[in-house]
Amino acid sequence: MAHKTIIIYKSSTGFTEKYARLLAEKLDGTAVDFKKAGRIPPSDFDTVIFGTRTHAGSIDGFDKFRKILRKQIRAHAKTPSCILFVTGASPATEQEIIHKFRKDN
Ligand SMILES: Cc1cc2nc3c(=O)[nH]c(=O)nc-3n(C[C@H](O)[C@H](O)[C@H](O)COP(=O)(O)O)c2cc1C
Repeated sequence: MAHKTIIIYKSSTGFTEKYARLLAEKLDGTAVDFKKAGRIPPSDFDTVIFGTRTHAGSIDGFDKFRKILRKQIRAHAKTPSCILFVTGASPATEQEIIHKFRKDN
């Protein structure tokens, strides 16, 4: 059976969505808006990728996403692998800021 991947994205301006769609294309997966994620059982997938933005030093929507995921995993037998990606406006050269962000989150 083929490996099934879902990319759930939370995006205000379409930036994170662009990456989510790119991943979906590369991984032969499905990109779904976070608003609709509650209706899709993540346990139907082998891998669940959550993509969102950095918001004032934290991961936007992460707690809500985790709640949805936990609830649905409890209701189904299978636990998928979970991957997170986060977009942000901090330049890649700002390693100290990025390191702190990873540590804090
Ligand atoms: C209110 C607000 C707070 C933000 N805080 C951060 C931040 O702390 N660090 C950062 O690197 N980017 C920050 N950003 C930039 C966004 O994370 C970035 O533009 C992101 O790619 C937007 O993705 P989206 O439009 O797909 O939601 C912030 C943007 C907004 C509007």
